[in-house]
Amino acid sequence: MALRSRGHPTKVTLRRRGVEHGRFAPSEPTPFAQAHALWESDRPILLAGILAPALPRWRGAIRRTLALFDGLRAGAGAPRLAARSRLRGRTEFFPSGATVDAGDPRELEKVYVDGMRAKRFAARGLYAKLSWIAHDERDASLRIRFSFGSENLRDWKKETRRAPWADRYALALFPEGTAQAENLRLRRAIEALLGRRARFSERIVYNNAPGGGAIFHHDCEPHQHGVVFGQLAGETAWLALPKRELARHMAGFVNTPRARAPALRRLAGTERKALRALDREGDARIAKLLDETPAFTARLVEHGALFHLQAGDALLLPNHAWNDTCWHAVFALGRRASLAHSYGIFAARR
Ligand SMILES: [Fe+2]
Repeated sequence: MALRSRGHPTKVTLRRRGVEHGRFAPSEPTPFAQAHALWESDRPILLAGILAPALPRWRGAIRRTLALFDGLRAGAGAPRLAARSRLRGRTEFFPSGATVDAGDPRELEKVYVDGMRAKRFAARGLYAKLSWIAHDERDASLRIRFSFGSENLRDWKKETRRAPWADRYALALFPEGTAQAENLRLRRAIEALLGRRARFSERIVYNNAPGGGAIFHHDCEPHQHGVVFGQLAGETAWLALPKRELARHMAGFVNTPRARAPALRRLAGTERKALRALDREGDARIAKLLDETPAFTARLVEHGALFHLQAGDALLLPNHAWNDTCWHAVFALGRRASLAHSYGIFAARR
C-alpha cells in the first residue's frame, strides 16, 4: 500500500492542561511494509492519509458534528434531545431514556436506545455516554462512548451479541464515522495485521479541545487486539510506544542527575520497577513524571515516540497482553476542537 510521505515534518507544540512540553518534530508516517513488525512489537502504526479519499463526502456531517460538540460544551441543549433529532426517521432505534451518574463527575449524560427489528426489541440498553475527558477545567475535551448494558458489570466484555447494534447506533448518530468504519483500505490493512476478519466496536467519538488531550494510558482489554483512531477533522499529536519501552525510559530518566528525584528512583529506578509503577493507577508521582515533565517528553520524542495526525490519517495502537501493549498520550493541536473516531479492534468471531 502506498501511503503519502510528508517530506520534512513540521514541528508541533505540545501543550496540555497548563503544561508546556515544548516544540518538537514528529516521526515520519509508517511505510506499510514495516507495519507487521511494528504491530507484533506493540508499536504505533501511522497510516497517513488512509481515510482522506473518503472524507469529502462527509464534509457537511463533520461540520454539523463539530457544531454539535461546541453546543454541548457551551451547555446549549441536552444530549438526549440532540440524539433524538439525529435519530429522527430511524425506526431501528427506539429512545428509551437518559441517565446521569452522580458518582462520575466527568459524565454529562448517558442516552439510551433499544435496537428494534420489525417493531420487536432486538437489543435493549444501547447507550451513548457523553463525558468530559478530564476532571481538569483547563481541558474542555469531550467524548462520546457507545456500548450496551451495564457499564459497572462490564457487559461489553462478556457479550458480543449487542456489540454490532451499539456500533450501528454510533454511525446513526455520527454518520461521518462511515469514512472509517466502512473503509475498505483501512479494513484490509488491519485484517492483514490481525490475520483474521475484524469487528470495530466500543466506538468512541472524540472532540479534543485546544490545550487538552488524554494523559498516558493503555487500552489493554480482553479480546481487544488494539485500537484504531481516525482523525476526521483537525489535528492531534501522540506520544505512543510499547509499555516495556516506556518503562525503560522511565528507569533511564529517573537515574539521570537531571531528574533529581530519589523517591522516583526507588519507585521506578529499574525497568521492572517502572513496569510495576505503570500499574499504580492514580499515583501522583508517576503521573507527574509521565504527563507533566517536559524533559521526559523530550526524551520520548528523541526516541521516535511522537506522531502527528492530520485529517485523513489513522493511527493503530496494538494490544497483545498486559505488559505487551502500546501506551499512549494525546495532545490536542490547532485552534479549534478536532473530531476523531476511535474503535476497539476485535476478531469478527471469537
Ligand atoms: Fe487510548
